[in-house]
Amino acid sequence: MTADTRADGRPHDIDALQTLIRLGSLHTPMAVRVAATLRLVDHMQAGARTVETLAARTGTHANALLRLVRHLVAIGILEESEADEFAPTDVGKLLADDHPAAQRAWHDLNQIVARADLSFTRLLDAVRTDRPTYESVHGRPFYDDLAERPELRDSFDSLLACDQGIAYDAPAAAFDWSGVGHVLDVGGGTGGFLAAIAKRAPHVSGTLLEMADTTETARTYLDSEGLSDRVDVVEGDFFAPLGRTADVVILSFVLLNWPDHDATRILSRCAQALAPGGRILVYERDDLHENSFNEQFTELDLRMLVFLGGALRTREKWDGLAASAGLVVESVRQLPSPTVPYDLSLLVLAPAEGDA
Ligand SMILES: C[S@@+](CC[C@H](N)C(=O)[O-])C[C@H]1O[C@@H](n2cnc3c(N)ncnc32)[C@H](O)[C@@H]1O
Repeated sequence: MTADTRADGRPHDIDALQTLIRLGSLHTPMAVRVAATLRLVDHMQAGARTVETLAARTGTHANALLRLVRHLVAIGILEESEADEFAPTDVGKLLADDHPAAQRAWHDLNQIVARADLSFTRLLDAVRTDRPTYESVHGRPFYDDLAERPELRDSFDSLLACDQGIAYDAPAAAFDWSGVGHVLDVGGGTGGFLAAIAKRAPHVSGTLLEMADTTETARTYLDSEGLSDRVDVVEGDFFAPLGRTADVVILSFVLLNWPDHDATRILSRCAQALAPGGRILVYERDDLHENSFNEQFTELDLRMLVFLGGALRTREKWDGLAASAGLVVESVRQLPSPTVPYDLSLLVLAPAEGDA
């Protein structure tokens, strides 16, 4: 039906138009982030219910804050509980600082993820060039910015670590550790995966390799889990020789940060570190092409593009990437995750025949 022959007499499909405008609007994501940054829900839960009180507690302008609060009511984050008094809805309560989902921190403009999301303001450049935009927005590439600003590094480490006590049980359980002596976790973050392996396989020792500022955080965590006698933490760069050999090398949520040519370099370093018969375990997403058209895939994939020039990889891409580093994908297991509403994948990579 053309625009001028619509049965309802309107020139457009109004529902479609409203959907498009809602999807295309920047004010809603920014309003949620400002609410998180100002800790509006915490202030409300501490008794500040009127806009005037909230403005006084947050150091904001009451008239402008009222306009923000009105939009937060419109989108279902807040409700007007009594005349001129506001309270969080069930969705809004997720923005309480002590909520275990840590959504306030994820949306706080002073913390790393919401800061990095501002790279999306230059998405057009990224799509034109296939290059990240974080540097053009913030002045330094993503990991250089973390290295320069310890508070951002701490924010990154604590956001990634918020579920580490449970997030790695499934991949640690999905591999047979019986013939394994030593594990090297490359870009191992604060140690959650290595701890899960060490607890499941008491005969295994491990090394975690990380950038300088995260090594101390990882050491503290592994100590607190009582594992420091079997697990050590070293500072290193995974683009350089890794300086250790291991029966199993782990790459958990590392390769998605990097474009193919860098991911190949990292995989090659890991392959060089393998003891004879060793394997590389890659833990991240691996979806069939036809399953990649959903927002859980595209959100992280586009973040990787603008933050770092990285990418989520589909099943078809993993084979090519492995081959570029002289490896083959030997097996893949889809594993339900307790922390995200989709499966993650454990890929086992082996040296290609002739490279072993
Ligand atoms: C997305 S995090 C994943 C951390 C952890 N493996 C996990 O599963 O949560 C990627 C990690 O790679 C580390 N990294 C980045 N560049 C690195 C480099 N050149 N050498 C060693 N580690 C690096 C970062 O510090 C970060 O902790």
